[in-house]
Amino acid sequence: MENGFTISIMKKQDLPKVFSTINGLFNKYDKLNAKTTLKYHFKSKEFGINDGNKYWIGNSKDSFVGFVGLEHTIQDVGFISWIAVKRRLQGKGYGKLLLKFAMGKAQEQGCKVLCIKGGSLASFKKANRLYEELGFKGKFKIKDYWADGDDLILWYQKLHPDDSKNHIQYILKHLFTKR
Ligand SMILES: CC(C)(COP(=O)(O)OP(=O)(O)OC[C@H]1O[C@@H](n2cnc3c(N)ncnc32)[C@H](O)[C@@H]1OP(=O)(O)O)[C@@H](O)C(=O)NCCC(=O)NCCS
Repeated sequence: MENGFTISIMKKQDLPKVFSTINGLFNKYDKLNAKTTLKYHFKSKEFGINDGNKYWIGNSKDSFVGFVGLEHTIQDVGFISWIAVKRRLQGKGYGKLLLKFAMGKAQEQGCKVLCIKGGSLASFKKANRLYEELGFKGKFKIKDYWADGDDLILWYQKLHPDDSKNHIQYILKHLFTKR
């Protein structure tokens, strides 16, 4: 990959770097959710259980840059659970490489629809822009999802020409109940 950038499967020993990135970037809800899900993921692995989630880290010249996750648990829907690049390394193209990589994996795994979370506040500006650039559409909004005045935007794109409408309705109903 470009400029010594590599993407490899996340290992349990990567968690401190991943958690420190999460701490600096995610909102209160996503911080807790991401850490719990990642801990559960590695615990499940120890017991030989496959939770259906996959996580990768990006390194530039052996130095941790960021991570991305893909969940593929509901019907034919892939869900990019989290993507993050260390604040001081943002804007250099790493986020785009990580997202493109996860999109390729979703396609390989036969996902028909791919979803990713965004938000209405300025903190999601870069993420929203990136999703749009890579072909996601931001049609679905859940008002006041994160907090009052802080809406969830569910971006999605079809990876397969089949009608995705039912998949999206399913996701909205089962994954995103208003908190
Ligand atoms: C979203 C995120 C992963 C993007 O990573 P990144 O490495 O900064 O992104 P890139 O450098 O690859 O830029 C990709 C695109 O993002 C958008 N972008 C990047 N910096 C931007 C900025 N300052 N303002 C607006 N858009 C921006 C652009 O569309 C850019 O494409 P371009 O370079 O062709 O214009 C990163 O900003 C991040 O970690 N944000 C905090 C965590 C988060 O919100 N995650 C998403 C929800 S889980």
